[in-house]
Amino acid sequence: MATWFIFATSLFLTYLDCCSGSFIGVCYGRSADDLPTPDKVSQLVQLHKIKYLRIYDSNIQVLKAFANTGVELMIGIPNSDLMSFSQFQSNADTWLKNSIIPYYPATKITYITVGAEVTEDPNNASSFVVPAMTNVLTALKKVGLHKRIKVSSTHSLGVLSRSFPPSAGAFNSSHAHFLKPMLEFLADNQSPFMIDIYPYYAYRDSPNKVSLDYALFESSSEVIDPNTGLLYTNMFDSQIDAIYFALSALNFRTIKIMVTETGWPSKGSPKETAATADNAQTYNTNLIRHVINNTGTPEKPGEELNVYIFSLFNENRKPGLESERNWGLFYPDQTSVYNLDFTGRGVVDMTRGANVTKSNRTSWCIASSKAPQIDLQNAVDWACGPGSVDCTAIQPSQPCFEPDSLVSHASYAFNSYYQQNGASDIACSFGGTGVKVDKDPMNRSYYCSLLYTCTGCDLQTLL
Ligand SMILES: *[C@@H]1O[C@H](CO)[C@@H](O)[C@H](O)[C@H]1NC(C)=O
Ligand SMILES: *[C@@H]1O[C@H](CO)[C@@H](O)[C@H](O)[C@H]1NC(C)=O
Ligand SMILES: *[C@@H]1O[C@H](CO)[C@@H](O)[C@H](O)[C@H]1NC(C)=O
Ligand SMILES: *[C@@H]1O[C@H](CO)[C@@H](O)[C@H](O)[C@H]1NC(C)=O
Ligand SMILES: *[C@@H]1O[C@H](CO)[C@@H](O)[C@H](O)[C@H]1NC(C)=O
Ligand SMILES: *[C@@H]1O[C@H](CO)[C@@H](O)[C@H](O)[C@H]1NC(C)=O
Repeated sequence: MATWFIFATSLFLTYLDCCSGSFIGVCYGRSADDLPTPDKVSQLVQLHKIKYLRIYDSNIQVLKAFANTGVELMIGIPNSDLMSFSQFQSNADTWLKNSIIPYYPATKITYITVGAEVTEDPNNASSFVVPAMTNVLTALKKVGLHKRIKVSSTHSLGVLSRSFPPSAGAFNSSHAHFLKPMLEFLADNQSPFMIDIYPYYAYRDSPNKVSLDYALFESSSEVIDPNTGLLYTNMFDSQIDAIYFALSALNFRTIKIMVTETGWPSKGSPKETAATADNAQTYNTNLIRHVINNTGTPEKPGEELNVYIFSLFNENRKPGLESERNWGLFYPDQTSVYNLDFTGRGVVDMTRGANVTKSNRTSWCIASSKAPQIDLQNAVDWACGPGSVDCTAIQPSQPCFEPDSLVSHASYAFNSYYQQNGASDIACSFGGTGVKVDKDPMNRSYYCSLLYTCTGCDLQTLL
């Protein structure tokens, strides 16, 4: 139902998503002090063909930045607001009138999450969540938007008391006071049950019980659920099915599941050995294929399952272990942490159809992201001046201006110079700020990810 609506009203209906029910979105968390402006983020999101975005509040700059982009937003009401939303209908009405209506429908909003992971909240937000959801729904009904904007709330897997084997999945009875009315609300309104799923934590916390391959969708062996005989090849499916069974045990068989967060960190503290860019790329690549393919789960094969990847950016203000600040697909300078194809169709799409694979170059020269800004700027000035590189393409409003970061502009200038000057080591020195990358496919895709926005540039001639 929700998906029917989403696709039927999508202005950006393309052949890429016309035939698959399930979609992949990304969470745009903003616990950081070094992120690009929402306008820039909007461009980044569009360039990567990300069509579904989750935000954690209703920030006006963000809502404005996504106006007329076709990107569908899931917005959030933070736990700290649940009490006031639950107490007076007028609070929900006012919020809707002031924070949403002025930007809708130019900004497409399709879901409102009322509270997030309330079972983890130290201030007992769970006692306010259902009354707050009811008031938000009532506010939407008053303006006739309740069919277009779905109301739900997200959960951590801690909402279950048991998740293994999946068929034994059960909600923790201590949460019954709010879960029962919430499930009734979701069933009555055809809203999805929203869950945040992290096989990474399951592996990190029990590396002896869980194999890394199983967590990364790479396992060649299967885990059998002794009660159902169903075969599991990955932990993601196993956790999702535990929720289906928990819902089923309470007789809520029609509620759909939506995964509002999942992902893998690219870096962690020395003890977090599985937090690597390789594992993050593997997890998210396999996840995207799994979802786009409409594989479903062993209990619900072919069932639509929409998933949001956490997170768009590394967020430097997140407390906790090193990994907490490294869940991002992008660095704050908008370069990719690792290459990821949101269409599930291979790396070529990242470069917008350019035939990267046909290039016969064996090396490229890019700017070191570690180089001091002043040195990079001097090197760019030199390349675009005495070095005779044509730097038109990286000027404002030109095709290679975005991402508007010095390191991206420098990479463009350095590589142009390098290729024009015989691709010799010396042609990539730039006072130590240039880095030669070889023909290795990882390197090539990394390089292309730096230049992904050069939509008007012919990568073929550039490389
Ligand atoms: C939270 O509030 C609910 C409803 O008021 C109550 O039943 C429950 O015991 C409270 N839980 C805690 C941990 O305070
Ligand atoms: C159920 O939830 C309660 C309250 O949050 C918690 O103390 C308890 O450990 C949970 N039980 C299980 C089996 O997870
Ligand atoms: C995608 O689905 C097809 C057909 O159902 C199947 O053959 C293929 O293995 C699936 N791919 C993945 C990555 O699950
Ligand atoms: C890419 O390469 C294929 C096969 O070599 C060719 O048919 C296609 O036209 C090329 N596309 C572009 C955009 O150059
Ligand atoms: C590489 O491509 C260039 C330009 O298309 C061509 O002139 C050159 O012969 C190619 N070199 C090899 C080794 O294929
Ligand atoms: C890219 O190439 C450099 C030098 O050739 C190498 O040190 C680096 O490990 C490569 N990076 C990847 C991701 O393959």
